[in-house]
Amino acid sequence: MAEKIRVGVNGYGVIGKRVAAAVSQQEDMSLAGVSDVVTDWRARMVVRNGFRLFGATEENKNAMRAAGLDPAGTLEDLLWQVDVVVDCTPKRIAAKNVGAYRSGRIKFILQGGEKHEATGHSFVAEANYASAVGRDATRVVSCNTTSVVRTLTALKRAGLLRRARGTLLRRATDPWESHESGIMNTLVPESEIPSHQGPDAQTVDPELDVVTMAVKVPETLAHLHYWSVRMTRRASKDEVLDALRTSSRIALIRVSDGLVALNTVKELMADRARPHDNLYEVALWADMLRVQDDELFYAYMVDNQAIVIPETIDAIRALTGTVTDANESIAATNAALGIEAALV
Ligand SMILES: NC(=O)c1ccc[n+]([C@@H]2O[C@H](COP(=O)([O-])OP(=O)(O)OC[C@H]3O[C@@H](n4cnc5c(N)ncnc54)[C@H](O)[C@@H]3O)[C@@H](O)[C@H]2O)c1
Repeated sequence: MAEKIRVGVNGYGVIGKRVAAAVSQQEDMSLAGVSDVVTDWRARMVVRNGFRLFGATEENKNAMRAAGLDPAGTLEDLLWQVDVVVDCTPKRIAAKNVGAYRSGRIKFILQGGEKHEATGHSFVAEANYASAVGRDATRVVSCNTTSVVRTLTALKRAGLLRRARGTLLRRATDPWESHESGIMNTLVPESEIPSHQGPDAQTVDPELDVVTMAVKVPETLAHLHYWSVRMTRRASKDEVLDALRTSSRIALIRVSDGLVALNTVKELMADRARPHDNLYEVALWADMLRVQDDELFYAYMVDNQAIVIPETIDAIRALTGTVTDANESIAATNAALGIEAALV
């Protein structure tokens, strides 16, 4: 087998820890190490999981040593040992690392908290893998945007999409941080219509006619989207479901199966023993979906912590150019992460 792609992960938080685990599950990738600034249990988990730990700076490395850890070096040292770095640091920090990646001629992937302009390319595997092949950098778009592009691309491929309007109910914060922030006993509308996800989807596919509105809700599990789509023509429900089935990352679920809410779907992922109960797919309620002449209505769940993980793995292959065919990479990622046609 050809040499493995050497990957570094900068920032071992909600997204970084999942990316690191997913990289180590791919046959064609090896995880060179993980860099962070923390010295507490989170850094200890890097070591416990068998990964090499690096301090983001010399100061961070020394603090890790003082805390009894044994870091292998700094981010700069890690960068010498990788083909691609996936930057999973918090919003706006990653953009500041771009200079270091570029001057070291390291290919890099940013996450959805950063702006499109930081890389000049925004990525969703099923929509635009080919245009990322061989590039220096890309940005895997946010959780919500990934779901929008996956679903609308499936409808577009089938020639059914005219325009789409969505309302997004957004989780208030991530579960592990809910002692620090979040909202309780209220709903907080985003101050502008459209919310940013519609325009963000157009950074991947400028042809999409899409408008989003968003509201923050007092829970931490996942996002819930409601969509109203004007199709190009009258279509049957079966035609629409067949179009959605062309995406291997949209899972059709059913209320009649007992999957009646976000928590039940998360419980199913736990029962499937997915790491972190990850739901990598858009979980779309097939029995709830309605067609009325040329109008289509549906709702789906987005596990914000997990949906971008398979996209990030595909983006690694695209940038390095080791796999030029989107379907080949998607199939390899899906197999390694246990993504299959049916959730249950
Ligand atoms: N949390 C989500 O649901 C979610 C979903 C999709 C995309 N994203 C995007 O992914 C990115 C990461 O978000 P997250 O939720 O994983 O953040 P997080 O806060 O959970 O994790 C960030 C990690 O980076 C570390 N860090 C902070 N400063 C650093 C530095 N200078 N150098 C190295 N490490 C540093 C932190 O200690 C932490 O471990 C953001 O762009 C975010 O918008 C987040």
